Amino acid sequence: MYFLTPAFKIEENRMHTITVAHPTGSYPIYLGKDVLAQTGRHLAKLGHSGRCAVVTNETVGQHHAEPLLESLHAAGFDPARINIPDGEQFKTLDTVAGLYDKFIEAKLDRRSPVIALGGGVLGDTAGFAAASFLRGVPFVQIPTTLLAMVDASVGGKTGVDLPQGKNLVGAFKQPEMVVVDPNVLSTLPEAEFRSGMAEVVKHGIIDAPGLFATLEKGRGASLRLQEQGGRGENAYFLPTPYFLLPTSLLYEAINVKVRVVQEDPFEQGRRAVLNLGHTFGHAFERLANFEMRHGEAVAIGIVCAARLATRLGYCAGETTERITALLTQLNLPVQVPSYPPADIWAAMATDKKRQGSTLRFILPRDIGDVDIFRDVGRENVEAVLEISE
Ligand SMILES: NC(=O)c1ccc[n+]([C@@H]2O[C@H](COP(=O)([O-])OP(=O)(O)OC[C@H]3O[C@@H](n4cnc5c(N)ncnc54)[C@H](O)[C@@H]3O)[C@@H](O)[C@H]2O)c1
Ligand SMILES: [Zn+2]
Repeated sequence: MYFLTPAFKIEENRMHTITVAHPTGSYPIYLGKDVLAQTGRHLAKLGHSGRCAVVTNETVGQHHAEPLLESLHAAGFDPARINIPDGEQFKTLDTVAGLYDKFIEAKLDRRSPVIALGGGVLGDTAGFAAASFLRGVPFVQIPTTLLAMVDASVGGKTGVDLPQGKNLVGAFKQPEMVVVDPNVLSTLPEAEFRSGMAEVVKHGIIDAPGLFATLEKGRGASLRLQEQGGRGENAYFLPTPYFLLPTSLLYEAINVKVRVVQEDPFEQGRRAVLNLGHTFGHAFERLANFEMRHGEAVAIGIVCAARLATRLGYCAGETTERITALLTQLNLPVQVPSYPPADIWAAMATDKKRQGSTLRFILPRDIGDVDIFRDVGRENVEAVLEISE
């Protein structure tokens, strides 16, 4: 457990490198404001050159493709820009097949890097294409949502959905490097930002009590509002919501994921802790026909997990209150949707049955300390679903 890491001494305006070790080597995560515009230089430094592909979508590309393409040109690369459609409904084998066509058209060879610029959907899709095209070409992740920065871009999991379910086809594909530029969050819609904050809180509960406490003090998400007016009290009006997360908080949140995946690169055990709040959360998403935002479902799921832990005597009631208060402070929902508890239980069980695994719950013992539990008792689960606040 990490109480206070050097992250809080992290300088906001410097670039920081986190090295991720995996079974066949390691790769750097470059984290810092404006590091997007340094991508070409960093990629060249790793020994790459020549033809490469930038895979993005219209939404992200219009804001952030230019500085990336410029930096690649400046470092001597010859990038092809490829757009794929935006949305989870396009995280499919059809989109991957379309990418293979574009890769061939762009004359990529086995050494040509594929660079994914976008959120988790784009990174998963482009990553799977990179893992399989010519039996694997070099891959670079440039996550542009908060969720993708702290979760999806680290750990090497890539893949697509099938009509039968999410993430049913995929591959482990370790990237050459990951580029995290907090400035790109400035164009993210507010709801996406909030959704990502649920995963940041999740990481705090899993293994970063310092991060959690910093968020409680109102740094982090509310700091972004101060930063909006960061150039004095009468800061100019920004037409769109403008989000920034301190580099130090991103550093902390990313590091939780890094520690977990280093411990369990192929998802054999410990990695399950990243599912804190997700057993409940997936059931809420399913019952709402996926019209509920993932981060919102996870926020409620985290509260349910904490209540269950308290009910079973693993975790102090005060800890559950702190978790609920922080999520509320971040404008995330904490109220269980009004489905009958038996239906929620059934939705959780179906999810697991399909994955061929048993129902397990990640429960907090404390902030920064979680464990994997089975056999928690259906009556206990249904009891916490009935609590309303
Ligand atoms: N591989 C993993 O380990 C892993 C882990 C967690 C989640 N995931 C996957 O991640 C996906 C969810 O990712 P997500 O939450 O990033 O959603 P997303 O990729 O759909 O992005 C959300 C929306 O924001 C847009 N967007 C992205 N960056 C933007 C920016 N900077 N400015 C403006 N708009 C921007 C996107 O185009 C999209 O419309 C799911 O498919 C999930 O399965 C994968
Ligand atoms: Zn999640």
